[in-house]
Amino acid sequence: MLDAGKYGPAALVLGGSEGIGRKFAEEIAAAGMDLVLVARNRAPLEEAAAALQSAHRVRVTALQRDLTAPGFEDFVGDILREHDIGLAVCNAGATHGVGHFLDGELARAQSLVQLNCNVPLVIAHKVLNARRAGKRGAGLVVVSSMSGVCGSGLVAAYAAAKAFQIALCEGLHWELAGEGLDVLCAVAGLTDTPAMRRSGVSFSAAAAAGYLAMDASHVAQGALAQLGRTAVWYAVGQQTADAMRAMPRPQLTQAMSAGSAALFQVPVRPRPD
Ligand SMILES: NC(=O)c1ccc[n+]([C@@H]2O[C@H](COP(=O)([O-])OP(=O)(O)OC[C@H]3O[C@@H](n4cnc5c(N)ncnc54)[C@H](OP(=O)(O)O)[C@@H]3O)[C@@H](O)[C@H]2O)c1
Repeated sequence: MLDAGKYGPAALVLGGSEGIGRKFAEEIAAAGMDLVLVARNRAPLEEAAAALQSAHRVRVTALQRDLTAPGFEDFVGDILREHDIGLAVCNAGATHGVGHFLDGELARAQSLVQLNCNVPLVIAHKVLNARRAGKRGAGLVVVSSMSGVCGSGLVAAYAAAKAFQIALCEGLHWELAGEGLDVLCAVAGLTDTPAMRRSGVSFSAAAAAGYLAMDASHVAQGALAQLGRTAVWYAVGQQTADAMRAMPRPQLTQAMSAGSAALFQVPVRPRPD
């Protein structure tokens, strides 16, 4: 069970209206902590806030915002002035669709970098510093992806941004161990979420091709259970992660790129070996 005494009274979940983020919000509310949820679309955000509030009798604040919009540092500063945040979950950050880097909009890649790199940097610095100043514990969970384990074609910028998250959490975990400031990178595998379904992933076709999706609850529950214990938790299991990481990098990049193409059913251009 999440230590609400250490991480409370309130948690911030970025991308908490649905999917993996919603499951984090449910687990945190069930532990009796208040919540601040952030997402772009008002209706699902307000539905999530109302449902969590009535099920768990905690205070839930819903903030509608695009995390890639300018002024993110000020936005976080305002939240911290109004709420005593002891736990932050940087969840929003999936890639919606795949494609060759040069064929896509540069702005889309930059938005993925903002969501996955700059957002966790700002959150880590501001939330953990605020709690350290008060000599209190805190937690930070950053949701990464198996795409971050090596470079991957068709999701090149996404994979690179997800790798940044793993390395950031490893470093912060090392620096802050012993100060009561717990940092965890939760590395999700393919997960059945509304966002991924909207992006065109057919989970039944993926399963038929051997890509089995995990449940969003598995990611949220597993991550919160590991917070404070380790720097990086792989939802696919440590053994599977170790086996992948032991592969020669070009072979792993080939396999990950083929996986991305299969999931989103995009043709792969012939390329020289
Ligand atoms: N699903 C998978 O197969 C999978 C696999 C590996 C890793 N992951 C990681 O798991 C995390 C969650 O993935 P997901 O599939 O649930 O999709 P997601 O799009 O990353 O997250 C959905 C949540 O984030 C919000 N959100 C998305 N973009 C936002 C933005 N720019 N500003 C504010 N809120 C935003 C969404 O609400 P709005 O749309 O209303 O803003 C929703 O609440 C991501 O970091 C992803 O990389 C997912």
